[in-house]
Amino acid sequence: MENLRAGVIGLGGRGYGMVKAVLLDMPGIEITYICDLYQDRVDRAYELIKEKQGFAPKTTLDYREVIASPDTDVILTYSAWEAHVEIAIAAMNAGKFVGTEVGGAYTLQQCYDLVETYERTGVQCMMLENCCYGREELLTLNMVKQGIFGDIVFCSGGYHHDLRDEITGGDKNRHYRLRNYKARNCENYPTHELGPIAKVLDINRGNRMLGLHSMATKAVGLNDYAAKTEGVDPSLANFKFAQGDIVTTVIDCANGQNIVLTLDTSLPRIYSRGFTVRGTHGMYSEWDGEIIIDGQIDPKFEWSRLDDANNIKRYYEKYEHPIWQKFLNDGVRGGHGGMDWLVTEAFIEAARNSSSKPPIDTYDTASWMCITPLSEISIKNHGNYVEIPDFTSGRWKDRTDFTVGEFNID
Ligand SMILES: NC(=O)c1ccc[n+]([C@@H]2O[C@H](COP(=O)([O-])OP(=O)(O)OC[C@H]3O[C@@H](n4cnc5c(N)ncnc54)[C@H](O)[C@@H]3O)[C@@H](O)[C@H]2O)c1
Repeated sequence: MENLRAGVIGLGGRGYGMVKAVLLDMPGIEITYICDLYQDRVDRAYELIKEKQGFAPKTTLDYREVIASPDTDVILTYSAWEAHVEIAIAAMNAGKFVGTEVGGAYTLQQCYDLVETYERTGVQCMMLENCCYGREELLTLNMVKQGIFGDIVFCSGGYHHDLRDEITGGDKNRHYRLRNYKARNCENYPTHELGPIAKVLDINRGNRMLGLHSMATKAVGLNDYAAKTEGVDPSLANFKFAQGDIVTTVIDCANGQNIVLTLDTSLPRIYSRGFTVRGTHGMYSEWDGEIIIDGQIDPKFEWSRLDDANNIKRYYEKYEHPIWQKFLNDGVRGGHGGMDWLVTEAFIEAARNSSSKPPIDTYDTASWMCITPLSEISIKNHGNYVEIPDFTSGRWKDRTDFTVGEFNID
C-alpha cells in the first residue's frame, strides 16, 4: 500500500517533537510538505526530515499551500491554539482528512463551523487527543465497559501542570500561552481530561453534555513567579493577567452524571491529570493510582488511601485494554509514554480504512473544544449555567455507527 503523504503544519515544540519521535518512525506515512510561520523552525524540521526520511519535504510559511498541494493526502496540524480551527476547516474544504492538536475553541461559532464543514464535505477533523490513549485511561475504560465499576455517576480530571516557566517565557520563546493568559479567562485546555472522560461516559454516542458552570480564582501565580524568578520579564510581576490561576468547571450530562474539570497551570505543583471515575461498584483515581472495588475493602476502616496505593498495577493482567495489549507486544514507542504513537496510528488507520469514522470525530472535536468559550461566558457571569449545544442534532442518542471500533471493546 502506498504511503499516506502528510502535510505538517506547526513546527514548534510539539510539531518538531512529533516529527522526530513519531512521524518519521511510523510506517505508512511520509512527510511531503511542512509549514510554520517562522523560517528557522521550518529549516530545522527540513534538515531532520531530509536526513531521516531520505528525501526532502516541500516547505512554506503559508499553510494554504500545504493544503492546496497535490503532494499531500492528509494534514496534521500542531500549530498554536488560535490557528487550529481555521486550518482544520481549510483542510476539510480541500477534501483532506485533518488531525488537529489539542486546545479549546475561541468562539462557539468555530465549533458550529467545524461541524457544518464536516456535514457539507463529508471530510472529518480528528482531534489528536493523545490522553485518550494513555494506558491508565484505557485500562479504566476497559473496566468501565466491562461493568466493573457499575453505573458511572461522576468523573473528574484536570490539567495540573506547572507551566509558569513556559507561560512567562512566551515572548522569548514565541509561544502562544503568554498572550492567551494575558487576554482570556477560561478553561483553556479541557481535553486532556475531558477526552478520556467522554469515552468513559459515551459522550456523543448515547449520552451528551448538557451545560456547565465555570468559576475562576484570582490571577496571582504568574505575578509572584515573575517577581521572584531570574530571567523572567520583570514587567510581568505587575501585569494584570486575565487568566485565573485555577478554573473549576462542572458539567452535567444527559444520563445523569457530573464531570468536574480543573485547569491548574500557574501555581507550583507536580504534573497530574487527576483522572477519576466513580461508579456504584467502585472507582479509579489517578492521584493514588488506586482502584477500589466494592466488597474488596471495608471503606469504613480505611483512612484516605489504601496501604497499597498504586494498586492499579494488579489490574493490568486482567483488564489491560486490547490497544495496549497489542502495543506492549509490538513494543511501546513514541513520546508521552506511547500515547503520541497510538493517537497517530489511529489517525492513519482512520485515514486509510474509514475516514468517515475516526475514533475521535468532528462531533467530539467540536463538543470538547466548545468548553473553552462557554467557560469564558460562565466565568464572566459568576458561574452562571451555560448550555452546551448538541452538535449531533439529536443523533447522539443512537449514534453507535460513528465509532470506528477502537474504543469499542465488547
Ligand atoms: N498532546 C500533547 O501532549 C501536547 C503537548 C504539547 C503541545 N500540544 C499542543 O500542540 C500545539 C502546539 O504547541 P507547542 O507547544 O508546540 O507550541 P509552539 O508555540 O512551540 O509551536 C506552535 C507553532 O505553530 C506555528 N503556527 C502558529 N500559527 C500558524 C499558522 N497559521 N501557520 C503555520 N504555523 C503556525 C507557530 O509559529 C509555532 O512554531 C498546541 O495546540 C498545544 O496545545 C499538545
